[in-house]
Amino acid sequence: MNRVRSWNGLPSTAKPWDPVGMSMPESHTEVVSVPAKLGLIAEPWSPGIVAELNGQEVKLARLEGAFVWHKHDDADELFYVLEGSFRMEFRDRSVELGVGDLIVVPRGVEHRPVADEACSVMLFEPAGVVNTGDAPESGQTNAAVRI
Ligand code: NI
Repeated sequence: MNRVRSWNGLPSTAKPWDPVGMSMPESHTEVVSVPAKLGLIAEPWSPGIVAELNGQEVKLARLEGAFVWHKHDDADELFYVLEGSFRMEFRDRSVELGVGDLIVVPRGVEHRPVADEACSVMLFEPAGVVNTGDAPESGQTNAAVRI
């Protein structure tokens, strides 16, 4: 196996990308402008899907105020802060996240994002995850749409 240098300079065993024979859909090779896509999202807690890969979805969302307590029994959920800041509350503690910070909420763990100021995030989770998880459907329950 070829040994290549990874982004952090450490040796990696990853194979160099070889496009020959790959049948990736053309749409997957388009550049996605995250700021432009964020501009299409007006409402808080209404995630928009901007990319898919390996059964996962990359979503953008605006957070505003307090979300509902919930958990996802079958999905870990990654939040990456693009703008502003928010607090991820867990039943036993809470953590503050600012621009450039990310957190992975493990499956089955109750959580509640709270944004005291305007905040936008990138989410990474399996396709089809409902934003309010196991919580009763409410005005904050929104199916993610492709944007
Ligand atoms: Ni969640």
